[in-house]
Amino acid sequence: MSNNITIIGLSWGDEGKGKFVDYLAQKADIVVRFNGGNNAGHTIKANGIKYKFKLMPSGAPLERECIIANGCVIDPKVLLEEIENLKKLGKKINLKLSSTAHVIFPFHRILDGLEEEFKGKYSAGTTKRGIGPTYSDKAARWGLRVFDLVNPELMKPKLEMLYNIKKSLIKIYDPTWDIDIESIFEEYKSYGEQLKPYVIDTANYLNQVVDDKKKIVFEAAQGSLLGIDHGFYPFGTSSNSNALGLSAGTGIPPKKIGKILGIIKAYTSRVGEGRFPTELFNKTSEIIREQGHEYGTVTGRPRRVGWLDLFNIKYGIMINGIDKIVISLLDALEGINPLKICTSYELEGKSLDSWPIHHEIIENCKPIYKTFEGWEKRTTAEWLTIAEKGYDALPTTMKIYIQAIKDELKTEIFALSIGADRSATIVLDEQLF
Ligand code: IMO
Ligand code: MG
Repeated sequence: MSNNITIIGLSWGDEGKGKFVDYLAQKADIVVRFNGGNNAGHTIKANGIKYKFKLMPSGAPLERECIIANGCVIDPKVLLEEIENLKKLGKKINLKLSSTAHVIFPFHRILDGLEEEFKGKYSAGTTKRGIGPTYSDKAARWGLRVFDLVNPELMKPKLEMLYNIKKSLIKIYDPTWDIDIESIFEEYKSYGEQLKPYVIDTANYLNQVVDDKKKIVFEAAQGSLLGIDHGFYPFGTSSNSNALGLSAGTGIPPKKIGKILGIIKAYTSRVGEGRFPTELFNKTSEIIREQGHEYGTVTGRPRRVGWLDLFNIKYGIMINGIDKIVISLLDALEGINPLKICTSYELEGKSLDSWPIHHEIIENCKPIYKTFEGWEKRTTAEWLTIAEKGYDALPTTMKIYIQAIKDELKTEIFALSIGADRSATIVLDEQLF
């Protein structure tokens, strides 16, 4: 039994991380976000209530201690809104926010949109939340951190420096832009006052709770294929949205991280731009989109959908060091027959040994598929009954599909999801965490 467990998306995000973090939080003391910002959209459905979080860790519905660690970027307005919404639902806020996380300012959002336009066919189709420009400023070492936000005398001169640079940059693209610095400063000063009670050095705190053997769930945002170093560059995000980002994003040494779960959907989805080899553009994709509610939580964009691509997921299993996998949204494939799974790519008539990582190569690859028989449609209540009965009650064809995934990935399965609700879950290894 491990004290710490991490949930990593192995695809292009939206794999159902929120649901499983909430599920595991039932047994945990603490839930930690370590990368990304309000580009994430994590949905939880429990006891008739649907929660959607962009920044709050998914331990909030269960009132677990929630930590937003240093690897995240913070839009303070969004975080305060989420705190307010939880308070309205009568939830106790037990939040700790890293003093070294970086802060998103209005000019970051503006630049996100302008840079995207300028990139043309190389644009990633970002969420335009200022994520990339904020991480860029962090790497350039002139970004502002939460510590600056909650100490206005520190924030003022740094904001002046950054604002002047950003203003001249924005004016290259849009000569009419003008937001005066005083209004930004006053607005952010007020956010800082409101957030100050939550701010601590999370690296120090997290190392203590790890040593105290508290039970911790680490919640990645985005997915492995969107990662800055090992993803589908440049069509991804700006953080290491995989297990490799966990140590840097928390300050916890790699050897203390614990077990790592990789989560995949029963099919593949993608928001934003970039080649998606198994993408479907037919009636089947429409059915999957509707049955899987594949519309972005953050931007509302219809998600692109296609057959399950296990070839790129194998790459994620390798770089993340996955202990076991979770398969979500199996119910969303109901009524579709036949089903296909991509096991490899073909390039110039030869099948490849490993995922080729460069989008210029992937553009010329053709997926190689295995075909499977589908399963019948069922009502939400019927899926819930199956979940209650457990694995043996699943349709036989679904069990064959699951077994094929397991064999192809050479990885054991931790759990399966056959519905959005917390209870529509089948756990195969109760001892893991
Ligand atoms: P969760 O945590 C799916 C995608 C965007 C875009 C690219 C870069 O809910 O799984 P960014 O705004 O990060 O600079 O956009 O990454 N993207 C996501 N796609 N799920 C997410 O988060 C995503 N966060 C970013 O669509 O292609
Ligand atoms: Mg999402």
